[in-house]
Amino acid sequence: MRLKDKVALITGGANGIGLATAERFAQEGAKLVLWDVSDKGSEVAAHLNKSGHEAIFRKVSVTDEQEVQTAVKEARDHFGRIDILINNAGITRDRTLLKMSKQEWDDVIGVNLTGVFNCTSAVAPVMKEQNYGRIVSASSNVAIRGNYGQTNYVATKSAIIGMTKVWAMELGRFGITANCIAPGFIHTAMTDLMPEEVRKQTIPQIPLGKWGYPADIANGYLYLASDEASFVSGICLTIDGGAAR
Ligand code: NAI
Repeated sequence: MRLKDKVALITGGANGIGLATAERFAQEGAKLVLWDVSDKGSEVAAHLNKSGHEAIFRKVSVTDEQEVQTAVKEARDHFGRIDILINNAGITRDRTLLKMSKQEWDDVIGVNLTGVFNCTSAVAPVMKEQNYGRIVSASSNVAIRGNYGQTNYVATKSAIIGMTKVWAMELGRFGITANCIAPGFIHTAMTDLMPEEVRKQTIPQIPLGKWGYPADIANGYLYLASDEASFVSGICLTIDGGAAR
């Protein structure tokens, strides 16, 4: 098992890619701490526990610094350590620049950027004490190629790539790696929001001619969270069927 007895904290673990990652990590022997604003997280944790794995769920918004700090303490008290942080929670509020409201900008920055800062700055001291840690965050291939209607989202996903490089430099001496993943189009609730017509238009841009599934990204998270990637830090792994340009 590639994550035997490792404690993994996954934000946005109730749905989509986060849920697939929780299931994949559990198969590989990890103990799980799941955070989400959706109550569905408690069903996910209950299901994992019933299947013989170890998981706890807490309703946490990554936007709330105090809540995050308290939940990190709770996770550490429960499992004794936190080896892996998967900064996966994210939202979209798509609108062209000329129509985007300040609220739509703030909402996306709050979850996708400040949320990642809140979680990483709360967990990094625990990892430093352990002299071990794996931080993997969700960027997107739109950070590399841009995307119509996503000024707010692209701003956050580009920032993730930059912050990851900084953390690789700052935290490496404490045995901590920091990497991110840039998924392309993946079938989840987030992309279900896209009109069917727009979804069809994306296919010719993807050399493999199809969208990916949450498990494709979970496998990338698994690699970067495992000891197989112990000499990998500061990278952004694109998983998008060849679409990024
Ligand atoms: P999703 O919408 O299926 O799941 C996201 C989860 O995050 C949900 O369970 C939601 O409740 C949770 N969440 C939202 N706000 C939160 C908050 N403030 N605090 C805690 N949890 C919160 O999304 P999906 O598709 O699984 O995306 C996961 C990550 O992958 C996101 O960061 C997304 O930007 C990124 N991504 C997804 C792509 C796709 O095609 N689905 C492509 C590129 C990146």
